[in-house]
Amino acid sequence: MNKQLELEDAIMQDAIRYVKEAGALILELMIQPLQIHEKENQSDLVTVVDMQSEDLLRNRIIADYPDHWILSEETDGGKEDAHLLLVHPPKGYGWIIDPIDGTTNFIHKMAHFAISIGIVKDGVPLCGVVYNPVTDDLYFGRKQRGAFLNGIPIHVGQEQDLSQALLGTGFPAKEWKANSNVVEQIARITGVARDVRILGSASLDLCLVASGGLTGFWHDGLYPWDVAAGLVIVQEAGGTITNHAGEDFELSNDTLVASNSFIHHSLLSVLK
Ligand code: IPD
Ligand code: CA
Ligand code: CA
Repeated sequence: MNKQLELEDAIMQDAIRYVKEAGALILELMIQPLQIHEKENQSDLVTVVDMQSEDLLRNRIIADYPDHWILSEETDGGKEDAHLLLVHPPKGYGWIIDPIDGTTNFIHKMAHFAISIGIVKDGVPLCGVVYNPVTDDLYFGRKQRGAFLNGIPIHVGQEQDLSQALLGTGFPAKEWKANSNVVEQIARITGVARDVRILGSASLDLCLVASGGLTGFWHDGLYPWDVAAGLVIVQEAGGTITNHAGEDFELSNDTLVASNSFIHHSLLSVLK
């Protein structure tokens, strides 16, 4: 095996080890009273556990891969120039981290939240790991190597028509719900698709598209840490992921549409 593949194998194994370690920490802290802080509004929340999970992940990466760059929600989220990292990504390996994706579910003790790590190389997504510590489900995808749930290959659903599609969506964190486009989009989709779900963890929702639980998913206003991992997992499971214009999805894009590929065109048309 060449040196680069060896290094990438090690990075991926380490990413899996780190999310499991963060997951164990989250479960341990989850039973204690939570300190909850509002960020942009009452549904954009962060807890001390998000910070601790993020600290653990960052410390592991910095110790093992000091020359890699990191973009993580709670450290970089408020920084004006964080977005630039995605528009002009530095060379080399970068780790894009959401320490708890689905914080509101976590606070309400709903078992649909995850730790999400996407790894990019020279700006191109290379691998994604999404781990739900409550269910112990580990989704993993690596470019040109497939997508897996707990080591078993996963594939997108086979629904051919929007009328058979179960879709997911969500509210952008930065917009207050009443100002969001989503309600109007759902109104248009209802009656055309089979049904719509708002599950509250974009990374896991993308993994559901990858494993066939959802036929498709759309979401405006996501951040790179919500999608960097799920993106690879969806593509490797046979899915398609674009922006609203139907162009290949870039981590700096503000709109995202993911699907099992078969319904992609129809879904884009209804959302337009
Ligand atoms: C949120 C989740 C949710 C999505 C929100 C995100 P967070 O992430 O991914 O599904 O609808 O827009 O902000 O804040 O729990 O990390
Ligand atoms: Ca998130
Ligand atoms: Ca988060």
